[in-house]
Amino acid sequence: MQVDAIYAICGFNDIPSRKAMGFHLMVLDHDGNHQPWSIVVVRWGKKVLGYLNRCPHNGVALDWEQNEFLDPDGVRLMCGKHGSTFELGTGLCVDGPCKGRTLTPIALTVLDGDICVVGVRLVEDNASRNE
Ligand code: FES
Repeated sequence: MQVDAIYAICGFNDIPSRKAMGFHLMVLDHDGNHQPWSIVVVRWGKKVLGYLNRCPHNGVALDWEQNEFLDPDGVRLMCGKHGSTFELGTGLCVDGPCKGRTLTPIALTVLDGDICVVGVRLVEDNASRNE
């Protein structure tokens, strides 16, 4: 049985509560090829939530400006392209052109004060945070 690796991507306190941060990572696919993997991580109090940084409307990254993921009220994720908004806790689009569709969730965990991704094989040399 293969055990999934756990990869720390940033400290829990690197993302203030009610803020989101993007990460451009690289994963190994089933054939061993490197594939770009862009994610957005939301911190909400003691919870962290993660989604692929890809709008279900036409597949672009959600942040129209680097690390600008939230709507003006700071309570939903928002796509900068056409303004679709998504519930933080579910990724469900509740307004905009892709209403009713959902962001793709990713598995995260917090371990020893770090936010970690699980369930993927990362190419660690190419991991970088949006800054
Ligand atoms: S690409 Fe995101 S709302 Fe159109």
